[in-house]
Amino acid sequence: MTILVTGCAGFIGSNFVRQWLSSCGEPIVNLDKLTYAGNLASLDDFKADARHIFVTGDIGDHVLVSRLLSEFKPRAVLNFAAESHVDRAILGPEDFVQTNIVGTFKLLEAVRGYWNALPEAERSAFRFLHVSTDEVYGSLTPADPPFAEDNRYEPNSPYSASKAASDHLVRAWHQTYGLPVLTTNCSNNYGPYQFPEKLIPLVILNALSGKPLPIYGDGLQVRDWLFVEDHCRAIMRVLDAGKIGETYNIGGHNEMANIDVVRTICAVLGELRARPDGKAYADQITYVKDRPGHDRRYAIDARKIGSDLGWRPLETFETGMSKTVAWYLSHPDWVEGVTSGAYRGWVAKQYGA
Ligand code: NAD
Ligand code: TYD
Repeated sequence: MTILVTGCAGFIGSNFVRQWLSSCGEPIVNLDKLTYAGNLASLDDFKADARHIFVTGDIGDHVLVSRLLSEFKPRAVLNFAAESHVDRAILGPEDFVQTNIVGTFKLLEAVRGYWNALPEAERSAFRFLHVSTDEVYGSLTPADPPFAEDNRYEPNSPYSASKAASDHLVRAWHQTYGLPVLTTNCSNNYGPYQFPEKLIPLVILNALSGKPLPIYGDGLQVRDWLFVEDHCRAIMRVLDAGKIGETYNIGGHNEMANIDVVRTICAVLGELRARPDGKAYADQITYVKDRPGHDRRYAIDARKIGSDLGWRPLETFETGMSKTVAWYLSHPDWVEGVTSGAYRGWVAKQYGA
């Protein structure tokens, strides 16, 4: 048996490959376009591992995806591939429409053709799992209950709108064509191998190089942070036991304001590698112009995946953050690889001088 995953040279996907191969050993075909966010260095440990077959390509390439499906005959397809950064979506939404909407559509069509032709036993065992985000639900006020699976979709950014559209396509391919789909909507992830355009790795690396730690607006926006390995375990659980056609919200029961997240990082860094001048990393915190359309609060009601599938996060924010900071400190080569070249151009464009 084999599974086909997409976008697994990225942050969550590379963690998923690692967890999958260490826990079950079933071969994995990894289709990734290697955009700026895709990084083969995140999969270095599997270079010589015959169970990991890496293919460079686009989920929107019908011919390529159909060929991979008929060649490897996967029992499941897991779609991680996406353009994933809200700030990039604000500056250039077109790639988000192309990959997240059109790409998901093309992938669904290729998978539908493959699935339709499978013998009955394989057809009924097959699953298409779509990895999505809590951002599709929009923004909460402090008094609102957390997002449950039946929360109405109210996306506010080009990123979340494109993910919302992809979720709708996945749902429709189940309702209309019977494709056996599962969708997961997860809160903000953090952990090893995250590209440093996202808040947590950006702050860790800026702190270490003596740069400002940029806080958008008043820094009181709230996110529900989940350690990436907990997310990957949840995806494996949903693939194994999720009910066809259902969606599962995944979260860390860990709502925090951005400013508190950044202060925690500063404290952990201070313990693991004190600033050479003895001062606090928090002195580098700098408030900058807010993100347009910035969602105020996300929070996840993860009771369904807990009660139906028995999943719970294993890491607290403190344990997950210590592991994350320690990982960035002990992987200077990976950091050097992703922060050279084009990354510098992005930082200059987004944050100015
Ligand atoms: P990422 O940006 O780190 O990685 C995305 C990967 O997809 C990259 O390897 C990239 O090369 C690949 N890719 C992009 N376009 C492609 C295309 N057209 N064809 C094939 N591959 C393509 O993203 P991530 O943070 O690992 O997120 C993975 C998935 O999880 C996304 O669907 C995202 O929406 C979702 N998600 C992310 C978070 C989070 O906090 N990071 C939270 C919830 C859900
Ligand atoms: P991010 O990691 O981009 O995830 P998302 O926008 O998908 O939630 O940002 C997390 C939060 O941190 C979000 O409220 C925006 C904020 N943020 C900053 O304050 N400064 C930054 O430099 C970045 C990248 C994000």
